[in-house]
Amino acid sequence: MVDVTIVGSGIAGLFVSLRCARAGYQVALVTKKQLTDSSTNWAQGGIAGILDSSDEEAVQAHVLDTLAAGDGLCDERIANIVASEAAYRIADLITEGVQFDQDQEGEYDLAMEGGHQRRRILHTRDATGAEIERALIQGCRSEPRITIHEDCLALDLILEDRHAEERRIVGLWCLGSDDQPFTLPSRAVLLATGGAGQLFRQTTNPTVATGDGIAMAVRAGASVRDLEFVQFHPTALALAGDRPFLITEALRGDGAVLMTEEEHRRWTQTDRTVPPATLSFMLKHHANGSLATRDIVARACDSEMKRSGDAHVLLVTEHLDGEELAERFPTIAQRLQRHGLELGRDPLPVAPAAHYLVGGLAVNEWGEVWQRDMAADDPTNTSRLGNVLAGLYAIGEISCTGLHGANRLASNSLLEAVVFSHRAGERVLEALSEEPEPPQVDLPDWRVDGLTDLEEHAPLVHDRAQLRSTMSDDVGLVKRDARLRRATRRLDLLSEEVERIWLRCRPTVELVELRNMVLLARLVTVASLARRENVGLHHNLDLA
Ligand code: SIN
Repeated sequence: MVDVTIVGSGIAGLFVSLRCARAGYQVALVTKKQLTDSSTNWAQGGIAGILDSSDEEAVQAHVLDTLAAGDGLCDERIANIVASEAAYRIADLITEGVQFDQDQEGEYDLAMEGGHQRRRILHTRDATGAEIERALIQGCRSEPRITIHEDCLALDLILEDRHAEERRIVGLWCLGSDDQPFTLPSRAVLLATGGAGQLFRQTTNPTVATGDGIAMAVRAGASVRDLEFVQFHPTALALAGDRPFLITEALRGDGAVLMTEEEHRRWTQTDRTVPPATLSFMLKHHANGSLATRDIVARACDSEMKRSGDAHVLLVTEHLDGEELAERFPTIAQRLQRHGLELGRDPLPVAPAAHYLVGGLAVNEWGEVWQRDMAADDPTNTSRLGNVLAGLYAIGEISCTGLHGANRLASNSLLEAVVFSHRAGERVLEALSEEPEPPQVDLPDWRVDGLTDLEEHAPLVHDRAQLRSTMSDDVGLVKRDARLRRATRRLDLLSEEVERIWLRCRPTVELVELRNMVLLARLVTVASLARRENVGLHHNLDLA
């Protein structure tokens, strides 16, 4: 039996792995593909936070911007915890070797993004997540107490007693790199599997983001909250033949402006003598223009695209210094080069894409996962939370701490992940030290008897595409009751279909992912139907 199993290798999983291993515990770090296959690794913008924890005014300003972005639904206590612990956790990252950009005087260079009233985002050019991953992976690889399981898919959590009032997680079943299921007994399990952008056709997320951890925990009795709040990033590069590629909001923080094709034409006719921001459609939607919060900007882009019939809007940088931009945003510059585009010279076609799951597993302030009321058996009903699921923790995008409310403030997610990773780590270490002897357990093997090999994966590929179409068309940026009900019917059919295959076939990655995606898609749809007010990211035309 290992002491701690951590599933997922983004900032949350890696950070807590180091914490537990350095405290002397044996850690199994399980990740579906390679360690670098995580949303963190793709994060461009940065990590928001005040570096001087004694500067209470600055910390409070961060809290206020977080609450404003969250549209009245943030948990203020959690926002205070996260903003005031930022300095310590960012210092930890720096100690791990993360190099954030500094100016010539050696001061950290702070970026600006939508919804922030001042500059407070640390970054490493436009590849902040990759730099954090680099440093933390280096730490994990050199820590002998961490055993890394790559190409290893967590299948399901193991409960000590399925019928007990107080349920306890005692390990998990995984599908190893040899495609064989195996049992991993563990005294504590931390889920850090990230979000589920793959539920949608257009997403900025890597292919691993299929909501596996949420689905697994729900099957074990966990509750979820706020799943109706799916954040679409307004500016994903929209070019035929390429996946949506994130164009960081920090580019708008440095002056880039959103325009329609028509506005851009008008602007070029003025010989670019007027500031482009004054012609941008965004001013009709918010006084902060292209730097309004993400929910507002994404919906504004969507509505302009629907009005004009264009498949994108434009992100305009021609009024800015192209060389400076290329130096500050090298990842983006490189990607654009593939398409013959240049910052400072060409307008960039962009469109909203699913980016971040604001809701997730309902957790307390230590990352412990709330067990749902099994009598009602509705994972989205959090009105009667009783106990936590002992031995189970959720950290990072998979969890819903209440920090983000109805809409996440830009660059608050890496911060939340590292703060809660630390807090959950503290709780795990406390629990392990209270029980010095590992319990003797004899866990069952994964059910294999009578299962056959799946002969054809093609139907799964079709079902996955159908799920993504349903979610994009009926449960997307702008919702309607009838479309949500239609989605429910379609997802019910898909669910029946997948369960039929599941009951007779050995698990494969494709089958497990699809099963998890269907479960989560249904929960997002149920939560969307249940929310009867338009707030933050949830926008239903029948409620407007
Ligand atoms: C971005 O760089 O625009 C994304 C950062 C975030 O999602 O917070």
